[in-house]
Parts: sequence; structure tokens; C-alpha cells
Amino acid sequence: MSNRLKVTPNDLSAFWMPFTANRQFKQAPRMFVSAKDMHYTTSDGRKVLDGTAGLWCVNAGHCRPKITEAIQHQAAELDYAPAFQMGHPIVFELANRLVDIAPKGMDHVFFTNSGSESVDTALKMAIAYHRARGEGSRTRLIGRERGYHGVNFGGISVGGIVNNRKMFGTLLGGVDHMPHTHLPEKNAFSKGVPEHGAELANELERIVALHDASTIAAVIVEPVAGSTGVILPPKGYLQKLREICTKHGILLIFDEVITGFGRLGTPFAADYFGVTPDIMTTAKGVSNGVIPMGAVFVTKEIHDAFMTGPDHMIEFFHGYTYSGNPIACAAALGTLDTYKEEGLLTRGEELAPYWEDALHSLKGEPNVIDVRNIGLIGAIELAPIAGQPTKRAFSAFVKAFEHGLLIRTTGDIIALSPPLIITKGQINELIDHLRDVLRSID
Ligand SMILES: Cc1ncc(COP(=O)(O)O)c(C=O)c1O
Repeated sequence: MSNRLKVTPNDLSAFWMPFTANRQFKQAPRMFVSAKDMHYTTSDGRKVLDGTAGLWCVNAGHCRPKITEAIQHQAAELDYAPAFQMGHPIVFELANRLVDIAPKGMDHVFFTNSGSESVDTALKMAIAYHRARGEGSRTRLIGRERGYHGVNFGGISVGGIVNNRKMFGTLLGGVDHMPHTHLPEKNAFSKGVPEHGAELANELERIVALHDASTIAAVIVEPVAGSTGVILPPKGYLQKLREICTKHGILLIFDEVITGFGRLGTPFAADYFGVTPDIMTTAKGVSNGVIPMGAVFVTKEIHDAFMTGPDHMIEFFHGYTYSGNPIACAAALGTLDTYKEEGLLTRGEELAPYWEDALHSLKGEPNVIDVRNIGLIGAIELAPIAGQPTKRAFSAFVKAFEHGLLIRTTGDIIALSPPLIITKGQINELIDHLRDVLRSID
């Protein structure tokens, strides 16, 4: 690595950092300069255990050789090919490999560059699909309170996180929201999927009764909501949503941007819950977070509805300059090879009970009001400091970093999602660090 990358720049003002407390950061910067497997190295030479797979994306761990080599080779072979009206072999290979591991029936893949783009692509597909089959009145989109679907206008419109919405005007019209499924008074300290709340899916019936099914294109939910602080679907909830959508001809979109690629111990959350959506959005783990990439999976029925009209006509007026970029495809193929060789798409299943016990051992630590888990996801909810919401969890985040552990916080919730290569010893280490942190903050 060049020295240029190792030094800390002495002027941090030009870079406006995303989703960051810029002023706090620039007073006390936290810089990573390298990474390997389960660890980052900071600019002052400390090792930090990655408790969050970067941002829920580095599922195979850091700087994995197959991925690095695939990128290096591809960059020297074919760096870029136009995404529109031209192709290159590995984008087709990747689509086939993805369909092979996808839930049965998800037969076609559309490439994007991020989760936000995957979501907007899926929403556009849903509306255009209904129009293509002569039901152009189905334009309404239904999301959920506390949902996170990225930051583009479509995603924040169906999303339900107030801070992500309130600054940005009227958003998309024709959107409604179901209630979230976080019921701490009934489900606190649940292990795995919580018992109570499946009836919340019936709220979709209320929304259908209000607007009429003939106006509704799609419902979009995260099977497990991550960025809002880990909200789990109550037992039977997703099955009910599926039934109601099917009954009314409404498409069901699963946003699997964080649950895709092994996070729950199955390749996708659809496999975990035994519920197949009509459209599935992914990103992050598809390329191990190394090169930006997203992939939207659709059924044959949806894809084929577009394949009409004269052969020379474009069927779907949508796509990105970097859809299926060759180097991103190479990274994704290297990622899929790594997942396969190391059994990572199902490794979470074997580790989940150990992870669950370790996490729940934090019950009773200062200010812990809930612990929840599923697959290799965990959340520790802290009581907020009166009048200063988010401050306690942010202190935990900073303290954890100083102690050599990367965690993620949202509101007063600590969210954990380590790379799927984590060992039992490293799970112990992570929990021990966190226990120390919880005992040392106000
Ligand atoms: C469920 C979900 N959808 C969409 C996104 C947005 O992804 P990106 O940041 O790649 O645009 C995220 C990011 O965390 C996510 O968790």
C-alpha cells in the first residue's frame, strides 16, 4: 500500500461525509487504512474487530484473495463495456449464477449499483408491469413505518424513517404505509422470530379497503428490517402478507439488501421464511461490498410481461451506465466463489444458536432494555438518556471503536451483523468488548 493512503490527511473539510456527524468526526477522526478477514486496522495502527461487516455488506470478510484477484484480472482485461445495447460475457454468467442460488421462481436479474437503485428499479418495474398487462390504474405503492429502502426518492417515499423523509418535501405521491412490527412491550428479549404481532399484516387489508386493490401496484418490506434498528417479522406475519398480496393481485417486493447472501443462515430471507416474493432487491453482499453493485430478481411472469412489441424496441426504459459493470461482475463472481467454497451462505445457521446465547448474555447489563436476534444479526436496545435520544448509543459506538470493536448504532439501538466467517472465539471477544463498553458509558 502506498504511503499516501496510510497518512491521515490534515485537512478534512472538503469531504462532506454521508450519514455522519461531520463536525464531531472532524474533531476526532476515526480512520481505517487497511483490512483483513475479520479486522480493520486504524491509521494509528490498532486492530478493530468488525462487528458489522462494514455496513452489512462484507459478508465474506475483508480483502479475500478470490475477489481481489478477480478484480485485478478483469481490470486488465475488459475495464468497461457499454451497458445499453451491448453485452460482455461475465454479466450473463453472473446473472445465471445468481438465478441458480435464488429462491425458486426468481428467474431474471436486472443489475444496479446500490440498494437504493435496486429499490427504485423494483418500484418502477412493479408499476410498469401492471401497465404492460393492461392494469395501468395500479400505481399505488405500500411501504411500512420504520422501513429503510435507501435514500433515493422512491426509497424514502415507501420508507418510514422520519429523519430520512422530513427534509425532502412531498416525496412520491400515492404511497401509503403499514405499521411496523416492533412491539417491545410484548416481544422484548425474544430469541429469534417473536411470537406476537402476526395480525399486523391485516393492516394491509385495511389499506386495500381504503384505496381499492385496483389502484395498488406493490407492497415493499424488508423481511427483517435492519437499518431502522433490527425489527423482526412476528411468526406468520410474512406468510400473511404474501396471502393478502396474492389475493388482491398486488406484487410483493422483498428488500433483501441486508438479508440477502447468507445473513440469516440461508441464501436469502425468502428461503428462511419459506415465502417467495414477486420481486427481490439486493446489493451489498452480492459483491461483498467491494465494488458497488445491486441486483433485482424478478419472476418469469414479470419479465415476460415486458417482452412484447417489435423486436427492435427497448422493452424497459430504465438502466444505469454501470449496470453490470465488468469489474463489479468480476467482484461478484469472486464473491460467489468464496461463498460456495466456504459454505458461507448457510454458515449462519450453524452459528446462530451460539450467537443467540452470547448476545442474550447481555441482558441485565446497564441500560439494556431489549436484546433481539436472528441468523447472524443482533440488536441491543438501550434506554435513551432523558431528553437526549441517540446520545447513549453514540457514546457506545465511539467507546467501542476505542476498545477495538466496530458496532453500528441507529437511534439508541446497537445493531450487529459480523462477517459470516466469524469464529466462536471472535463472537466471545465481540460480546466481552461490548459488555465492557456498556459498563463504562453513562
Ligand atoms: C433494506 C435496505 N434497502 C436499501 C438500502 C440502501 O442501500 P444503498 O446504501 O446501497 O443504496 C439499504 C442500506 O442499508 C438497506 O438496508
